[in-house]
Amino acid sequence: MTFRVGLVGCGSIAAELEDLLRAVPGYFLFPYGHATLVARHPRTELVAIADPDPRRREAIGDRFNVAARFADHHALLESVPVDIVAVAAPTRFHARIAIDAAHAGVKGLFLEKPVAETLRDVDAMIAACTAAGTATVVNHFRSFDPLWRRAAQLVQSGEVGRLTGITAVWVDGVADGGSHLLDYLRVMTGARVTWVQAFTQGAARHVDPGGTFILGLDSDIRVTVHMEWGSKAPPQVDVFGTAGMVRLGNFQVQRWRFEEVADRVVPVEVPFPGRHDGRSAMTVALDELLDAIEYGTRPVSTLEDGRDVLGITLAVLEAGRTGCRVDLPFIDLDAAARAES
Ligand SMILES: NC(=O)c1ccc[n+]([C@@H]2O[C@H](COP(=O)([O-])OP(=O)(O)OC[C@H]3O[C@@H](n4cnc5c(N)ncnc54)[C@H](O)[C@@H]3O)[C@@H](O)[C@H]2O)c1
Repeated sequence: MTFRVGLVGCGSIAAELEDLLRAVPGYFLFPYGHATLVARHPRTELVAIADPDPRRREAIGDRFNVAARFADHHALLESVPVDIVAVAAPTRFHARIAIDAAHAGVKGLFLEKPVAETLRDVDAMIAACTAAGTATVVNHFRSFDPLWRRAAQLVQSGEVGRLTGITAVWVDGVADGGSHLLDYLRVMTGARVTWVQAFTQGAARHVDPGGTFILGLDSDIRVTVHMEWGSKAPPQVDVFGTAGMVRLGNFQVQRWRFEEVADRVVPVEVPFPGRHDGRSAMTVALDELLDAIEYGTRPVSTLEDGRDVLGITLAVLEAGRTGCRVDLPFIDLDAAARAES
């Protein structure tokens, strides 16, 4: 079966960002755009697009040969039968689009992150999707990256021993880039964040601040995140255990075992048992959404997981604002995390 997809939002993450990344030496996780993904995937077809900006709408329509072009998602949903809606508009519009699509009876939603700005919006999205039986997947791309998945399995299988801590150097704001990391930490550790302390910075210049924050997990370990706005440093996650450590970078994972050598315990680098299989994270995410629609399986990152990520994001922002530790779950349904787009 071929799934008919409607794309709402024809901006950067539709195709432009992928065009940019293709010019970066060594970058190979493609497709990395909703239009490029759907157009190339053997089981999907891009049948309609919506964007209020005629320039961007026409650019995507012409490039991907889509005749059905609309200024908003209402017109798209009313005019063209679609199985899946890809929600790639700015974050503040995600809830309205997702809820209307679920009410219109679409089978699946491919949602951009952050899933929404407030927990109240996400709760309304979850209610609409649950009532309509709409499957969801969220483009937290580290959680779907085959190499990072393999690293998560390795950690869960006890290869580094008992986890003792995690440090991460990350990019962009807490709500924006941070959502990828926060979701991946859940996938890798299987643990929940129970408290947060934070020093945030950059809010004056940026809607979505960066900063340094500590997450306390219910497995009794701490995650320290350093996220400097404007930094061009590649992301890195170091996972420490009693028996070794794993270091995740963009396209590589390194591994060390702590071994006794001449009466001293030293880190000895050992090969990582796995390579990137070349599939892009978005391809894996779309495959999992199609499986969810056809077989009722659960994608690794769903709207419910996006809610957890937003709750942690809001706690980090609150802790940064107040200078106080914030315990989770975060309960202010109307506090907003605003990302750049
Ligand atoms: N997963 C990732 O790695 C990743 C990367 C970039 C952006 N994003 C997310 O994707 C979303 C879009 O970001 P972007 O960088 O493409 O932004 P963008 O500003 O480049 O593009 C957004 C597009 O949506 C259009 N738009 C505005 N209001 C709309 C509406 N109501 N309905 C339909 N279209 C509308 C705009 O005209 C624009 O063309 C955001 O939620 C962002 O956080 C995710």
